Amino acid sequence: MDLMEFQAKELFAKHDVAVTLGIVANTPAEARAAAEQLGVVVVKAQVKAGGRGKAGGVKLAKTPDEAEQHAEAILGMQIKGLTVNRVLIAPAASIQEEYYFSFLLDRADRQYLCIASVEGGVEIEEVAKTNPDAVKKIAIDPGTGVDEAKARAIVEEAAFPAELTEQAVTLVQKLWKVFVEEDATLVEINPLARLEGDVLEALDGKVSLDGNAEFRHEDHQAFVITDETDPLELKATEKGLNYVKLDGQVGIIGNGAGLVMSTLDVVAYAGEEHGGVKPANFLDIGGGANAQVMADGLDVILGDDQVKSVFVNVFGGITACDEVANGIKGALEILGDQATKPLVVRLDGNNVDKGRAILDELNHPLVTQVDTMDGAAAKAAELANA
Ligand SMILES: Nc1ncnc2c1ncn2[C@@H]1O[C@H](COP(=O)(O)OP(=O)(O)OP(=O)(O)O)[C@@H](O)[C@H]1O
Ligand SMILES: [Mg+2]
Repeated sequence: MDLMEFQAKELFAKHDVAVTLGIVANTPAEARAAAEQLGVVVVKAQVKAGGRGKAGGVKLAKTPDEAEQHAEAILGMQIKGLTVNRVLIAPAASIQEEYYFSFLLDRADRQYLCIASVEGGVEIEEVAKTNPDAVKKIAIDPGTGVDEAKARAIVEEAAFPAELTEQAVTLVQKLWKVFVEEDATLVEINPLARLEGDVLEALDGKVSLDGNAEFRHEDHQAFVITDETDPLELKATEKGLNYVKLDGQVGIIGNGAGLVMSTLDVVAYAGEEHGGVKPANFLDIGGGANAQVMADGLDVILGDDQVKSVFVNVFGGITACDEVANGIKGALEILGDQATKPLVVRLDGNNVDKGRAILDELNHPLVTQVDTMDGAAAKAAELANA
């Protein structure tokens, strides 16, 4: 899960990283009220994308009037395809210099990486291209992490100004605690600002939390922002389904992530012959495909207005095909009139004959069985294009 700036700052504050929280506003009036409280402020679009400043989503406001006007302009704005639903009203800081600092998981090298540059600010990617030596990459051994000595080495390598050394060493260690204790895969500060009076402060924050560690961070649930989530994905999450909304017309249900990924491919290929239809979603119902799980999956997919047909692609393993067929039968009973779109079912694997026999006997008007994956994909694409 990626956090918005105001959430990243909350997490930083929890670990005592130097930061000023500001006030989140959902309307221009709230922005004005916040500015009345805070004085000169910066109105900042809260979206999970970079380049907000460049897109006109970060604006200085000297008066509450200006804060209201900027909020009016920024709220509802699109940044990289994302609608701005809230702004952060942050006290304006007097910036002397801007630095860049991050810890991240370096999957390719199977370790952690610190990236730091005293030439921070908005265009760190640009700096990396034009002046790569100014962007320091420091490997971190996951076994030993960042103790004080390592923090000192990082600060030295990054060449922070001498008068900031002690602050930087402390900040690096605190940020490392954020990274490890919160199970993040990224913590990034850009800009890490040197303010008047030689004070270091995080003026922006990006954090990605590792979903695999969710079970040990109940408090991370509070970071879920439901109005930013696709309503179908939200419904699927509530039902515990592994669902990702895509943009096509053929709903997909399968068991096992690998099989579902290949199903997306074969449907996309088949779609080329049938008006360019595409898969509408990823949905892996996993091993225990009982009637309720099948019904929940179908319910989510049929709730997608774009869906014209559904392809159920199951390879029977521990959950045998007859159980899956009974699952489909039960799902159609549970859904009743809500099941309105044709289902193409391809069963194979454990107990395939029994499974197919159950669906033959059911003889449901919406269900078509096809024996092969390619054949079923073609049929589903054809029906979606009809
Ligand atoms: N509280 C603040 N006071 C003064 N200036 C600020 C403040 N916050 C941000 N700025 C200025 O605005 C610039 C952009 O802000 P910020 O880094 O938060 O957004 P961004 O970099 O455009 O967005 P992103 O990091 O998503 O690409 C900063 O580099 C800084 O110069
Ligand atoms: Mg930034």
